[in-house]
Amino acid sequence: MFLIFQMYVLLLVLGVVSPTMTLDNGLALTPPMGWLTWQRYRCKVDCNTYPDDCISEQLIRRTADIMAEEGYLEAGYNYIAIDDCWLEKQRSPDGKLVADRDRFPHGMKQLAKYVHHRGLKFGIYEDYGNTTCALYPGVMGHEQTDVDTLLGWDVDYIKLDGCAATPDDMKTGYPEFGKMLNASGRPVLYSCSWPAYLEDASIMPDYGAIAEHCNLWRNWDDIDDSWASVSKIMNWFGDNQQRIQQYAGPGHWNDPDMLVIGNYGLSLDQARAQMAVWAVLAAPLLMSADLARMRPEFKEILLNRDIIAVNQDSLGKQGLRVSMKAKQHVWTRELSGDSYAVAIVNHIEGGPPQFSSLTFSEMAVPARSYTVQDLYHEEEDWILFANQNFTTRVNPTGVKFYQFVPLPSEERTRKSNINLNVQNELDRKYVVEIVI
Ligand SMILES: *[C@@H]1O[C@H](CO)[C@@H](O)[C@H](O)[C@H]1NC(C)=O
Ligand SMILES: *[C@@H]1O[C@H](CO)[C@@H](O)[C@H](O)[C@H]1NC(C)=O
Ligand SMILES: *[C@@H]1O[C@H](CO)[C@@H](O)[C@H](O)[C@H]1NC(C)=O
Repeated sequence: MFLIFQMYVLLLVLGVVSPTMTLDNGLALTPPMGWLTWQRYRCKVDCNTYPDDCISEQLIRRTADIMAEEGYLEAGYNYIAIDDCWLEKQRSPDGKLVADRDRFPHGMKQLAKYVHHRGLKFGIYEDYGNTTCALYPGVMGHEQTDVDTLLGWDVDYIKLDGCAATPDDMKTGYPEFGKMLNASGRPVLYSCSWPAYLEDASIMPDYGAIAEHCNLWRNWDDIDDSWASVSKIMNWFGDNQQRIQQYAGPGHWNDPDMLVIGNYGLSLDQARAQMAVWAVLAAPLLMSADLARMRPEFKEILLNRDIIAVNQDSLGKQGLRVSMKAKQHVWTRELSGDSYAVAIVNHIEGGPPQFSSLTFSEMAVPARSYTVQDLYHEEEDWILFANQNFTTRVNPTGVKFYQFVPLPSEERTRKSNINLNVQNELDRKYVVEIVI
C-alpha cells in the first residue's frame, strides 16, 4: 500500500497523473444522450391553444413512445427530460413542490413509471435560486425537501438552473445539492448551469470544482433554432477551448446545449454541421424537436450511428478547433484506436462548395496513412497517404465529417510503394480499387 502511495506521489511529481477529483456516481461515462423540452417547447403552458406543444404529461408520453418505437432509444437516446414550467406556482401547504395539476393530472411519479416502462430514464428541471427562470418555485431554502420529493418520484436526471441565485449561492449550493443527491443512494445524472451564469457575468468559473460535483454543465448561452446561434456557440467553444477542454472526460462533460436539428431554423447542411461539431466536442446529445413531425432527412442525421460512435468514443476526449483558414474551421477529435474524427465546417454563406486543402498539421492529425471514411456516407472510403495533403469540398454553412482510421503497418509499407497523387474523388476511388 505504502509502495503504491509512493508511486502515486512520484507520478504526481512527474506530472503523469493529476490529482483532480471528479464526480463518481457511475453515470455519464460517455456523453449523455436524450431529449429535453426547452428549445422546442419553451414555457408553453396554454394547452387549450397549444394542445400538442404545451409542457404536459401528454407531450412526454407521446415523445417517450416515439423514442422507444422509432429507433431513438436503440441509437442511444435514453433520457427524456422536462425543462422549466412543469410546476404549480405555489408549494403545497407542507412546503413541497407540486407538478401542475392540469397539465400533469397523474403526477410525476406516474409519469416516471410510464417513461421507465418504455425503457427510458426520466429527467426533470429545477433551479438553485428562489425561483426558476420562468418564476416557478426554486429550491433555495428547501434543498433537502426537494431532493426527497424529486427522488421520491424516481427521477434519474436533474438539470439544476441558476436563475435568481448569486455566484456565492452557486458556489456552495451546487456542491451541496450534489452531495444530497449522492447521499440519497439513487444514481442521478446531475446537470449544472453554474458556469453559464459566471461566464455570462465575466467571472472565471472554477471548472475543477464543477467537474468534481456535476456530470455535465452548461458553459454558456442558451441555444436558439438558428445557424447564427449554432455557429456563435461553436465559436465560443473554439475560442475558449484552452481553458475548458481538459475538464471533459468520462463522467463529466462540457455542454454546448441542445441539438436543434429537426426544427425550423437549420438547413440540412447546417444540421449536419451541428451534429458533427457536437460529436467532436464530446457534447451531451440532447435533442429538442417534435419527434412526431421529424422529417426523415433530419432523423437520419440524429440517428447516424457512425457519428454517434464518435460522440460516444470511450477515450472521452473532447476535440478542438485546430485551424481556421479562409473561414474553413477544422475540428479534430482523437478517438480510441489511434483514429481521428475531423470536421471541416465552411462558414462562408452562399456561393459554391468551397475547395479545401489541408496539411496533416492543419488537421492536428499525425502524418501517416489512413483509410478515410465519410461519416455522412456520400463518398466511398479512400486512402490518404502520409506524404499527401487532404482535400475536400464543403458546402456553404455546411460540413464534411470524416474518420481517419490508421492503415495496418504491413499494408502501409506495401501501399507506400504506390506513388499516387490523389486529387479528387474519382482518383480516390481508383486508389482504393488498385491497392485493395
Ligand atoms: C431568496 O429568498 C430569501 C428568503 O426570502 C431572501 O433572504 C434572499 O435574499 C433571496 N435571494 C435572492 C437571490 O433573491
Ligand atoms: C456517492 O459518492 C461515492 C464517492 O464518490 C460514489 O462511490 C458513489 O457511487 C456515489 N453514490 C451515488 C448514489 O451517487
Ligand atoms: C501541401 O500544402 C502545403 C501548404 O498548403 C504546400 O506547401 C505543400 O506543397 C502541399 N504538399 C503537397 C504534397 O501537395
